[in-house]
Amino acid sequence: MSLPVKVHPNAIASSRTLVVGGTSGIGAAVVSAALASSGSVHISSSNPDKISAKIAEFKALYPGAPPVTGTAANLSDENTLDENVKNVLEEATKALGGPLDHLVYTAGDEFKRTPLSAVDPKTYFKGWTVRYLSPLLFAKTLSAAPGTYLSISASSSITFTSGVLSHKPIPGVAHFIGWAGAIEALARGLAVDMAPVRVNVVSPGAIYTEMLAGMGEAAVGSFGQGTLRKSVGTAAECAEGYLFCMRTGFLTGEVVKVDGGALFA
Ligand SMILES: NC(=O)c1ccc[n+]([C@@H]2O[C@H](COP(=O)([O-])OP(=O)(O)OC[C@H]3O[C@@H](n4cnc5c(N)ncnc54)[C@H](OP(=O)(O)O)[C@@H]3O)[C@@H](O)[C@H]2O)c1
Repeated sequence: MSLPVKVHPNAIASSRTLVVGGTSGIGAAVVSAALASSGSVHISSSNPDKISAKIAEFKALYPGAPPVTGTAANLSDENTLDENVKNVLEEATKALGGPLDHLVYTAGDEFKRTPLSAVDPKTYFKGWTVRYLSPLLFAKTLSAAPGTYLSISASSSITFTSGVLSHKPIPGVAHFIGWAGAIEALARGLAVDMAPVRVNVVSPGAIYTEMLAGMGEAAVGSFGQGTLRKSVGTAAECAEGYLFCMRTGFLTGEVVKVDGGALFA
């Protein structure tokens, strides 16, 4: 039997996506990729000025695309996290004209690089709020009101972010990487709990973003040497991992590594 080849679908066209962390780095590249595929996008981050500036940039890049909109919310304060998460979802669904098809979460705040000997049990988990607790509360809010903020379908997806250091640590990072392992375990559990909605994680290697650039050119060069191709990745290359998770209806509970072969270098 020969099955007919079909026209390849553009699964992002006409879809509604919320990118939390969409004002910078990997998240901004995911927004750009979704717009290039004719999707509608809402962005969120803590800084309203950065949101306005990025929206203007996207409008100039994609004049024919549906308008990009945004909502500011600081996701680092656990006291306001529940209400901030709900507000972002309310505003996103209102601006996009219906429940989301995709939630992409790339928000991450600055790491305070303290030594292992300075770990303080009273404050340690504050560092997990933006990268772990907030994604968990997005899943909670989506699950509490099925179909209200996210369409219930196997073509819908949630994609979180971890990082290569949890798979291949370098010296001195042991106490920074727990959240990354935890978010991958969370995604596997949510893939089961939230099915048919798909839940995956992208694990970026060293990607040249505002965050990485802030570490200085020597660090960037050294991260690049830690890959098989001997250079760090671009945000656009990393965005393809998220688009793969969004588009692929048969992918759930997985970790997609976009790291230039760092594990084998
Ligand atoms: N770049 C890499 O090499 C790399 C490698 C592995 C893993 N990762 C992880 O990938 C994620 C994205 O990295 P990136 O390089 O794209 O970082 P980035 O360029 O610094 O972008 C981070 C995003 O998070 C937002 N954000 C920061 N604090 C926030 C808060 N309190 N509430 C809400 N949003 C907040 C930022 O916007 P505002 O400042 O406006 O809030 C920005 O949109 C991070 O979790 C990072 O740890 C990155």
